[in-house]
Amino acid sequence: MVGANRAEILRQCRKQGILITRSFFDNLAGFEDPMAILRGAQEFNISGVLDQNHLQLLAKLVPNNNSLTAVNATIEPTEIAPATIVSKAELQMPDITEKVTFSQPTLNAQEVEINHSPVKINASLNVEPNPARKEIRARTIAPMVKPEPLAPHILKGLQNYDIGDFPMIASDVDIDLEIHFDITGNSVTEGKMNDINSCFSSRLDKIRKMIVAGGEMPSRVTNINQLLADRHAFTGRENIACAIGLVNEPRNTKKGHLIFELEDNTGATTCLLRKDDDDPNPIISHGLMPDDVIGVAGTFSNTGDLFYVNDLFFPPLKRRKRKNSPDAQVSVAFLSDIHVGSKTFLEAQWQKMVQWFHTDPLAKTIKYFVLSGDCVDGVGIYPGQDKELSIPDLFNQYDEFAGLLHQLPDWVECIMLPGNHDAVRPAEPQPALEPDIQQSFNATHFVGNPCDFSLHGVRILSYHGKSIDDYVSGMRNVTYSNPVQAMREMMQRRHLAPQWGGKTPLSPEPEDNLVINTVPDIFVTGHVHGHACVDYKGTTLVCSSTWQDQTSYQRMLGFQPKPCILTVVNLGTHMTANIPFA
Ligand SMILES: [Fe+2]
Repeated sequence: MVGANRAEILRQCRKQGILITRSFFDNLAGFEDPMAILRGAQEFNISGVLDQNHLQLLAKLVPNNNSLTAVNATIEPTEIAPATIVSKAELQMPDITEKVTFSQPTLNAQEVEINHSPVKINASLNVEPNPARKEIRARTIAPMVKPEPLAPHILKGLQNYDIGDFPMIASDVDIDLEIHFDITGNSVTEGKMNDINSCFSSRLDKIRKMIVAGGEMPSRVTNINQLLADRHAFTGRENIACAIGLVNEPRNTKKGHLIFELEDNTGATTCLLRKDDDDPNPIISHGLMPDDVIGVAGTFSNTGDLFYVNDLFFPPLKRRKRKNSPDAQVSVAFLSDIHVGSKTFLEAQWQKMVQWFHTDPLAKTIKYFVLSGDCVDGVGIYPGQDKELSIPDLFNQYDEFAGLLHQLPDWVECIMLPGNHDAVRPAEPQPALEPDIQQSFNATHFVGNPCDFSLHGVRILSYHGKSIDDYVSGMRNVTYSNPVQAMREMMQRRHLAPQWGGKTPLSPEPEDNLVINTVPDIFVTGHVHGHACVDYKGTTLVCSSTWQDQTSYQRMLGFQPKPCILTVVNLGTHMTANIPFA
């Protein structure tokens, strides 16, 4: 491309607030000075989504900028797509649609004049002509004078979300983001057996301390090797032994008892939690996850080869009081799984949301926008994916998404982490997107997955949620239609992805960073394309909505996603709002 490279062009587009189609971009390369063409769009107030037809128009309007290739410079009737321009005009200045000429479709074969270059435009729309508009000439792209704003549309059904709770608006508040954990730049594993052993030892140590500190175990915790040596002392009802270890191969017997191996750094023993119809234990019916860390209290069988579990312990999780941010009562919004680049990405609904961001008073309180992974569909993620992509190039997918984020108001700070469709290593914890991808974005903080951070002192744990697949497989009380139950289970056992060798690839860091060391005020995931926003013992659980329609794979499985729901949480009061755009 002469005179400008790809990145410069995209930067200029963002600067001007325009989006360009692939055909526009490709043919722009055929001009002596592509940047002059883009500046021409600004000069002639052409905004919105520009396609090949707009390029042809600009080719005529911008002087001394010859096409190096055979770009069709003839503008035929009906070639200009008025609806496209109106859409962008509504988007950027939603209060002016009444004044935008193309939104008044009265221009049947009307002659207009722009910069003394006559261009015939036939906006052949099926609408009755409006005689009052017949004399409109020129200015068919955007208005010269900013019109009076329309009254903003106030969403209904937000009884718990009172605008009166916000003494300030987001644009008046400085960013207050503190990162507590992000693997980006901190991954040290070599993937060797030593690293795997260290990772599991770290997990065991961390969660054992939590269980012991809970003070609920009935006697002193002993290492398993010592218990086995003294097993004959721990028989009968009165001689209770306690141990804490990692769970291996949990399964149910034919009679419905739960059996598993419990292993610590010193040894392993077989444990049996007996089914009792008179006093059913939900753990027996729900199951355990492989590689959970649990505490057990019980006695050995007379033969000493089986440990009968009387009680089973996770780290205690008591109801807690959320921290709030009295100094900055702004909101944080949550989405995930946008899947830009997929044919099923819901672009029209995105534009509707952008319009809402620019008009609704509630949106003016949104300082932060957390995007929990899979913002693009990626390439080569599953067999046959290429047939379902509208943008087959990965970098172009990110560029497109950068453009979509750029449409949001400038007071919104995005925090973006990767998911399993993103261009980073799949093993969790995942680092942030690479710098050459980041450079396409404005006002976006790139973090790893998971990321533990605070906004104005409110602790947030954001995790894409790939391990929900393992929870669905491993626990009978977790389903794809109720993914928030997987989040409760993660909180319960203080681990985001316990299972090694399941559907979630794990990076064996010497310190297990997927342990939930600090219970967050807000815990957010995505991945499964569901939606939920509930309280769980004082933590707000947000299962972020997707922006992708039902895929053919989901249709085959009979899974119905819940797309286009923006979850908004007031950092000051923790009140929530769920705003649908579908
Ligand atoms: Fe995902």
